Amino acid sequence: MAWVTASVYTSHVPAIGAALDLGKTHEPYWQKVFAGYDFSRQWLSDNRPDVIFLVYNDHANAFSLDIIPTFAIGCAAEFQPADEGWGPRPVPKVIGHPELAAHIAHSVIQEDFDLTVVNRMDVDHGLTVPLSLMCGQPEAWPCPVIPFAVNVVQYPVPSGRRCFQLGQAVRRAVESYDEPLKVQVWGTGGMSHQLQGPRAGLINREFDNAFLDRLIADPKGLSEMPHIDYVREAGSEGIELVMWLIARGAMADLAGGRPPTVAHRFYHVPASNTAVGHLILENPH
Ligand code: DHB
Ligand code: FE
Repeated sequence: MAWVTASVYTSHVPAIGAALDLGKTHEPYWQKVFAGYDFSRQWLSDNRPDVIFLVYNDHANAFSLDIIPTFAIGCAAEFQPADEGWGPRPVPKVIGHPELAAHIAHSVIQEDFDLTVVNRMDVDHGLTVPLSLMCGQPEAWPCPVIPFAVNVVQYPVPSGRRCFQLGQAVRRAVESYDEPLKVQVWGTGGMSHQLQGPRAGLINREFDNAFLDRLIADPKGLSEMPHIDYVREAGSEGIELVMWLIARGAMADLAGGRPPTVAHRFYHVPASNTAVGHLILENPH
């Protein structure tokens, strides 16, 4: 059996990737952001998974308004960094895990979640920036990654409840795989941010920190929050936070609803136009 050992949550601000790629991490502005991930890079090398199931959203790079999958699982052997307008990021290609991805697709589709199976796809900053934050600038990423893209760009977007339940189904899928693989599930995007319109630049520290508290201790209750509350409180792009509920749903259901262990928590404003939030949660061994 495979099992979910931990979950990682992080914002995926593209300017963070650019700061790293352009050698700006030691500038005072960026140093404060990257310092929040010093623990995490060490933690990841101490707790290296066999596979990362990485939940993110594509930002109109692999998909367009032509085809809008609500949930899309990357089943290819590899994925190239997308060209988002300035050329592809100078980061390693992503090696997939077609066998586990196909198993998860089979399992959750049979549990009534409609996934789009994707056999060719480039991956944008939503996926590569979290890898950069957690791994730095390696020659190759530390393990295979299954990209799992969620539509939070074009309405209608999936509810938090659906995302949480999907995460629970992903855990059951992982646990029914017949190889002993350690799997981490990562949820990315958020925190509060709005990139356009009169409220551009919106940051809501109170909401963000309450979201982190509830994600840890009351994920099911949090999953009932309607999407309009994300948009009102966390800005139009704050809706990306529903993806964190997929990763949280994949964590063990502990006795009495006891929360998993918080290995690390970080919150910082600003990075580009946004708040940066980051959590690492561990399941008991
Ligand atoms: C920005 C873009 C994102 O996709 C995101 O999640 C946060 C910030 C940006 O363009 O600044
Ligand atoms: Fe984003």
